[in-house]
Amino acid sequence: MFGLGFGVGSPRVMAFLGNVPWLCSLALLVFGAFGCNHDTPTDEVKRIEAARQAERIARGDELYGRMCKVCHGANGEGYKADQAPALVHPDFLASVEDDSLYGSIADGRPGTTMSAWSAARGGPLSQGDIEALIAHLRSWQKGPRATLDERRQTGDIGRGLVIYDRECVRCHGAKGVGGPNIHIGDSAWLSRTSNGFLRYAIEKGRAPTSMPGFAATLGPAGIEDVLAALRSFPQPIAAANARPARAFPPPLPLGPVPLHPKGPEPEGFVIHPGTTHAELVHAQLERGARLAILDARAPTDYTNEHIAGAVSVPFYDPTPYFDKLPRDAWLVCYCACPHAESGELAGKLVAAGFKKVTVLDEGLGFWKTKGFKTSTGDKP
Ligand code: HEC
Ligand code: HEC
Repeated sequence: MFGLGFGVGSPRVMAFLGNVPWLCSLALLVFGAFGCNHDTPTDEVKRIEAARQAERIARGDELYGRMCKVCHGANGEGYKADQAPALVHPDFLASVEDDSLYGSIADGRPGTTMSAWSAARGGPLSQGDIEALIAHLRSWQKGPRATLDERRQTGDIGRGLVIYDRECVRCHGAKGVGGPNIHIGDSAWLSRTSNGFLRYAIEKGRAPTSMPGFAATLGPAGIEDVLAALRSFPQPIAAANARPARAFPPPLPLGPVPLHPKGPEPEGFVIHPGTTHAELVHAQLERGARLAILDARAPTDYTNEHIAGAVSVPFYDPTPYFDKLPRDAWLVCYCACPHAESGELAGKLVAAGFKKVTVLDEGLGFWKTKGFKTSTGDKP
């Protein structure tokens, strides 16, 4: 699908070679005659493919460590930050399609802290990078693909909604969004997720996460009904999280830093690893204090909405910005998470010798609930 289909021992490669036995014999003859190499072309193809796949996995491993582990955990165990789900779960890996993984990574999960990472959306990752990440996630998969029941759903929406409200809403939110756990009502996600995947997740659950298995309590009929309810959820995404009108290719140019270059020194800021309360930062901004606000998230999120005056310095690759950032002004890092990505960025700034570094305590969500100013687009 994304070029991953040609993995080691891929059925396509094997079938092709199996159909041309004369090629193998000819090569054997040639190699045999010269006595230089006893490999058959099959071995050769396997070796090249294995090397390519190893390269892909290594690239994916590097990207994952830099961009993803802060929330999903070093080994995909999940829940490092923001209810980021487990990616290593054997039942997840056995049932999810590469297309679905690609969609989640490329386009993100609107309304959550999962950013859109693809260059097409203004993020840092090429198609090859995303394929490498998928290869890395797949390298965690030990078991075979699950057998999924992909039949059309035949449940009753009305009965399903009753079950949903009783069993699911406390974790997944009304209509599958806005709850404490993974959004299962997002229209883009639902449209690329099969009935088989959904049935499998609901039946088996995802122990040891809090997702219970419902095979015993709801039975096949109840699961069919709840599936019908889920299929009735797709809803337009809130305007604030909609796809931006155009992607701004990263890295975004750094805007003016610091703000208020002639202003007074901010008061009450707490040095990293301490954090500074949003109300205090806001008050210092209002006072015209000299400071810079750094948005640590992927640039896609920055262009969607950021704190007014903030500049984009993504946590996974801040180095190009180091020589442009002031060393004598306070740098306030924030994300939506509320601390995960901003904490990473602050750590890297301190390691690079910046002294006046702090993290905004509550992140962008709190900033917005207070009605403090935000901007959209690629400018501060
Ligand atoms: C106690 C909280 C809780 C309840 C109750 C719950 N879930 Fe979940 N659900 C979760 C968590 C947490 C995950 C993510 C698990 C992981 O990290 O693998 C999840 C995952 C899922 C997924 C897979 C999503 C994906 O992309 O991998 C589906 C589908 C799902 N839940 C449906 C339901 C339905 C339908 C119900 C009610 C019948 C329900 N859940 C009840 C917590 C819950
Ligand atoms: C700021 C935290 C954060 C970072 C960084 C992050 N994610 Fe996520 N990710 C999440 C959250 C939260 C969700 C669940 C979104 C939802 O509720 O729908 C998620 C969902 C996903 C899913 C869908 C899982 C499922 O069950 O369907 C995949 C795949 C994924 N992330 C991969 C990645 C990869 C690869 C990276 C790095 C390029 C990454 N994530 C970086 C927070 C994060």
